[in-house]
Amino acid sequence: MKRKIRSKKMKVLLTRSLHDFAIRDLKKHFKIEIHNGPFPMPKKKLLSKIKDFDGLICFPYDKIDKDVISAGAKLKTISAFSVGYDQIDTKYAKKRKIKIGYTPNVLTVATADLTITLILDLLRRVTEGDRLVRRGDWKEVFGADTYVGDEINGKTLGILGLGRIGKEVAKKARIFGMNIIYHNRNRLPSSQEKTLKARFVTLNELFSKSDIVSIHVPYSSETHELVDKALINKMKKSAFIINTSRGKIITENDLILALKRNVIAGAALDVFYNEPIGKNHPLTKMQNVILSPHIGSSSVVTRAKMAEITVENLKLGLAGKKLIYSV
Ligand code: DGY
Repeated sequence: MKRKIRSKKMKVLLTRSLHDFAIRDLKKHFKIEIHNGPFPMPKKKLLSKIKDFDGLICFPYDKIDKDVISAGAKLKTISAFSVGYDQIDTKYAKKRKIKIGYTPNVLTVATADLTITLILDLLRRVTEGDRLVRRGDWKEVFGADTYVGDEINGKTLGILGLGRIGKEVAKKARIFGMNIIYHNRNRLPSSQEKTLKARFVTLNELFSKSDIVSIHVPYSSETHELVDKALINKMKKSAFIINTSRGKIITENDLILALKRNVIAGAALDVFYNEPIGKNHPLTKMQNVILSPHIGSSSVVTRAKMAEITVENLKLGLAGKKLIYSV
C-alpha cells in the first residue's frame, strides 16, 4: 500500500493581519496564526506563542526584543511590514542567524508625497482653514490679508537624513522651488549633492538656517530624542518642523513647549512619541499643528506592495534563500 508522504507545513505568526491576497498566499505555504487582540501584540502573549513558530511577520511598534527572539527557539525569519525595523533587536536576531526582512523602496514615493503635502498644508494653512470653516468661524470673504499663508517657493528645506525618502523629498521640493540643505551622519558624494542640488550643513546649521526642517533619519539609539530643546531653540521663529519618520526622534515635550511659546511657527506630525495619541493630547489643542495618524506609506498601491514584499521575504527566508530586502 502506497503511503502518502505529507511534509509538515512550517508555522508563521502574524502580529496583525495583512491584505487578503497576502493571507491567501501565506496559507498556501504555511500554517498561520494571526493575533487579533490589542496592538501592539502584548509581550506576554508573544512570549508564550513564539516558541512554536518558524516565521514571524511584525509591524511597527511591536516589540521583538531579545526576550521574544530567545523564546522563539524555532524562529528562522522575521519579516517586518515596514521600512523601519527599530521594533526588532536586529543585532541579537542576527547573532541567532535569524533572517530579517523589511520593505524599503516601495514606500519612498508615498512617504515623500505625504511630506510635501504636509509642508504645503502647513504653509498655506489648509487644515487650519478647514477647522475654521467647520467651526463656523469663516467671517470675511476674500479679505486682502485674511487667512494668508506662505509660499514654499524660495524657502529653505532642511532635510535631516538624506537617504532614500529624504532624497525623494528633495527631488519633489526642488520642483516647488525650494532650496535644499541637509545633514547626514556621513556626507553624500559630491556627484549626488550636485544632482539633488543639496548642500551639506552641520546639524546646528540645519536647524538655524531652515525655514522647514523635515526629519527622515531612522529611529535608533543614536537618533533617540535627537531633536531636543537645544536644537529647536536654534530654529527661526518663522520655521516649521515636519516628522514622518518616528516620534521618538523628537523630545515631544520640548516641541510642545516650543510650539506653545511660539519659539517656532508650527509643526506637521505623522508620528508621535506614543501612538495612537488621544483627543486630549496637548498637540491636538494647537492651531499651528497638523496631525496625521502615521500614514506615510498609506496609499493603496504602496501598502499592497509592502504586503507582497513582506510575504515574499518570509517565504524566501523560510526556504533558506536570500530575501528581497534584508536588514
Ligand atoms: C515604516 O514603514 O516604517 C513607516 O513608518 C510606515 O509608514
